Amino acid sequence: MAFGLFKKNKHEVEPIFAALGTDMHCHLIPSVDDGSKSMEESIECLSTLKAVGYSKVIITPHFASRYRNDEEDIARRFEEVKKAANDEGLEIELSGIAGEYRVDTIFKERLEHPRFLKVGGKYVLVEYSIHQQMIGAENLIFDLQMQNQEVILAHPERYPYINIDGAQIEQLLNQGVLLQCNVLSLGGFYGEEAKRRAFTLIERGWVSFLGTDTHNVLYAHALRDLTHQKKVRKLLEKYEFKNKEL
Ligand SMILES: [Fe+2]
Repeated sequence: MAFGLFKKNKHEVEPIFAALGTDMHCHLIPSVDDGSKSMEESIECLSTLKAVGYSKVIITPHFASRYRNDEEDIARRFEEVKKAANDEGLEIELSGIAGEYRVDTIFKERLEHPRFLKVGGKYVLVEYSIHQQMIGAENLIFDLQMQNQEVILAHPERYPYINIDGAQIEQLLNQGVLLQCNVLSLGGFYGEEAKRRAFTLIERGWVSFLGTDTHNVLYAHALRDLTHQKKVRKLLEKYEFKNKEL
């Protein structure tokens, strides 16, 4: 038998995310935000999540002034995705629906009438603007915590205005905000700076959750490629994340 047959095909996918178990951040409800545009695309992305090792998925559409989603409507659409995945025979559990809540001009209204769809029924996933910080964003997060909500801040590595060696991130951690990095940041999907910041935050032990933040098939392809990166595999073996509690 030719020796070459034992070599790994670079198109093969390694299930390196099996240890995490649950992807707790992705945009696979079709046509409700900037994520998947069709049920077919959602199914393709979900089958990639299965291939790279995930056994459960929590879908987290954007709730923002730009995407005026309604919790009840999103919950209903989630059932449609579940049914489609089931009809396709996808062996991955769609275990929950939650929001990714943007801390923006309408966030204050949400605090007045809270009806959050939470990750694992427990955590409110929030995000900041990628481009510039909203003044008072931290106070709104604090107000949310005052309502006895546990808070996860999505992809801190992607906010260039937050100095990861500075007081702002320390303050967030001190007030009990949990951090979630995107796995694709580790492969440079969002640029070298986000990559460096994601590795640093994880190596400092500051990151509680990892998410794929899958929006479409481009993300799915990048996830497949990521499974060949030794440095990422090693990091997943070395550090513990709370994903498996979900
Ligand atoms: Fe997201």
